Amino acid sequence: MSANGPVLDVRDLRVWYGSTRGAVRAVDGVSIQIRAGEVLGLVGESGCGKSTLGRGVMGLLPDGSAVDGQVLFQDTDLLKVSDRQLRRMRGPDIALIFQEPMTRLNPLMRIEDHFSETITAHEPKLSKAEVRRRSLEALGGMGIPPTRFRNYPHEFSGGMRQRIMIALALVLRPKLVIADEPTTALDVLVEAQILSILADLKRNFDTALLLITHNLGIVAEACDRVAVMYAGRIAEEGDARTVFSQPAHPYTRELLRSVISLNTTGLHYIPGAPPSLIDPPAACKFHPRCPDAMRVCAQLAPVEQRLSAGQRVECWLHGPGDRIPEGGREPLEQERIAVAEEA
Ligand SMILES: Nc1ncnc2c1ncn2[C@@H]1O[C@H](COP(=O)(O)OP(=O)(O)O)[C@@H](O)[C@H]1O
Ligand code: SF4
Ligand SMILES: [Mg+2]
Repeated sequence: MSANGPVLDVRDLRVWYGSTRGAVRAVDGVSIQIRAGEVLGLVGESGCGKSTLGRGVMGLLPDGSAVDGQVLFQDTDLLKVSDRQLRRMRGPDIALIFQEPMTRLNPLMRIEDHFSETITAHEPKLSKAEVRRRSLEALGGMGIPPTRFRNYPHEFSGGMRQRIMIALALVLRPKLVIADEPTTALDVLVEAQILSILADLKRNFDTALLLITHNLGIVAEACDRVAVMYAGRIAEEGDARTVFSQPAHPYTRELLRSVISLNTTGLHYIPGAPPSLIDPPAACKFHPRCPDAMRVCAQLAPVEQRLSAGQRVECWLHGPGDRIPEGGREPLEQERIAVAEEA
């Protein structure tokens, strides 16, 4: 890896699920990069492929799915390494924090044993005292007191279990963390705690973090860059401040408008819903819902453009002009999806 090269470099990733109705193209040509010490937020409505992207990077896809492209972790293509090697990398190199806490904690094992098992699997020579010290430090960071170290998973509340899971994922100080909606089921206090832990990790250990969330407030607070995902593709990506202040893609703009803030008087949401990924709309997949749709948008898939503000965006509003056919800029006549907006 070159000194300043990205920790994670995903190139043209595609993931399909098999289904009785045909292939679900959940990730359809995605490229993203994350550097050491950088937090990339991945946002978009439910069903746009965010979790599939996270799982595809980790090699944790269900049987019957197909994957193509490159997932370079420090120059190693994770799609090419053996299952055994990938398992060995999970923990010390890359970690995934799931949404549901109970999925990974063994109900028959004390919290203490979860930690010692995780740590010694990767660092067998550590002394017991050191294992204990590291475990308690990780738990303490998540606000779990040492007195609870010998408890079993069921003796904790859901929020505490989630924090234990996170402590467990982070105890080996992985170089890349993928957190999939890590705070969705938690109250705001715990949420703030978790975000500050993730920030510490990035600061102290130069961890690269992919933070999947539908909470744009979290992105504004915790992320350096943001990628907006729609129907299996990255619609727009850029510096979080820039994307928030000057969204270039109509989908980003509409997502931002639908955030309810204290001074919101009316409620805005994007009409319609993300499409089925078995049979999505042709050309620009957002065109049936897009207030700015032009004729070209239903004819040709938009191509990635780099903007001067640093974003990259896939939308015909940003060109390239020479590829737009005659009359392509005319507004697209389409049945308006009922617009739900109150004054
Ligand atoms: N195991 C699966 N088999 C078939 N389709 C799936 C499977 N998991 C997810 N999908 C579909 O893939 C698409 C993307 O899902 P997902 O990655 O979970 O999106 P998000 O995390 O953004 O909500 C959705 O259409 C979803 O229904
Ligand atoms: S390409 Fe066209 S339909 Fe798609 S987001 Fe841009 S303006 Fe809207
Ligand atoms: Mg998801």
